[in-house]
Amino acid sequence: MEPLRTLLFVPGIRENMIEKARSLPADALVLDLEDSVAVAEKAKARALVRDSIAGLPLKGQRVLLRINSLQSGYAQQDLEAVIVPGIDGISQPKPGSSDEVRRVEAIIERLESERGLKQGHIKLIPWVETAMGMLHAFQIASASPRVVGIAFGAEDFTLDTGMARTEEGAELLFPRMMVVIAARAASVIAIDTPYNDFRDEEGLVRESRLARSLGFEGKFLIHPSQIEPVNQVFRPTEEEIAHARRVVEAFEAAEAQGFASTSLDGKMIDTPQARMASRLLEMAQAIAEREGG
Ligand code: COA
Ligand code: MG
Repeated sequence: MEPLRTLLFVPGIRENMIEKARSLPADALVLDLEDSVAVAEKAKARALVRDSIAGLPLKGQRVLLRINSLQSGYAQQDLEAVIVPGIDGISQPKPGSSDEVRRVEAIIERLESERGLKQGHIKLIPWVETAMGMLHAFQIASASPRVVGIAFGAEDFTLDTGMARTEEGAELLFPRMMVVIAARAASVIAIDTPYNDFRDEEGLVRESRLARSLGFEGKFLIHPSQIEPVNQVFRPTEEEIAHARRVVEAFEAAEAQGFASTSLDGKMIDTPQARMASRLLEMAQAIAEREGG
């Protein structure tokens, strides 16, 4: 398990932002060739991104690249440009089916082999952000062993479905839960949509907490100021860690006596709580390692 709490988008056409991103403490940098790059600039961005990848991360960040969708007609050229040493993953927008994910996988596989790259190193994070994609979320999440997570894209999803965005976001509850359920069923992680109002830290933290409570393990970001608050939301607190340790200890003590349930502070603990606590401890450990602790 490796933390992917914060995935910072960096427009593939902005040389200064790419340079700045190198030393930012996000868990992953996502160089974008899709919606933050104008159509007229796609070729230029591809070349810039390709030349930036080697040696990009100075802080151990994973390097991902968001290509254009298959429907756009640019995906193939994007992949030809960016499947180079230093790339850890491809983020695929708007797949409507598992078949589309496998088409991207096949191109990656061919390029990895032609270019002598380690087979299977490059992972996939498809976006679930269309009505059709939502209905096929599980198939998309389980389309390939390269898929390590699926991302919920609220902007495109509301555009595609005609839903109006509201302040409190009730319209996003069902799709968010669908994405988490599909992800867990496929044993991959769910990553939440970006929060656009990058000057509103309170709103960002509120939405990130909601995402975490729904089962998301991370969030896409659009601005450097969002990294630390979101890393913090997805980092288990000292109290959570201490409590999880007590749950695991209590459960293990019960197990040693042949029971699979016990009580702690007047509440029942059985297998699901103990598993949840172990998972939290593993994540806390992985985050501590990521942060050099
Ligand atoms: N990655 C790296 N650096 C970034 C950045 C990002 N996503 N967003 C801003 N920065 C840098 C700026 O270049 C600036 O650097 P400087 O101080 O060295 O000049 C600094 O962070 C502060 O930026 P700020 O002035 O607050 O914002 P801005 O007006 O320059 O940029 C946005 C605002 C929204 C245009 C910019 O954050 C952005 O392009 N975000 C990503 C958009 C995107 O990728 N969208 C597609 C996915 S939905
Ligand atoms: Mg999108």
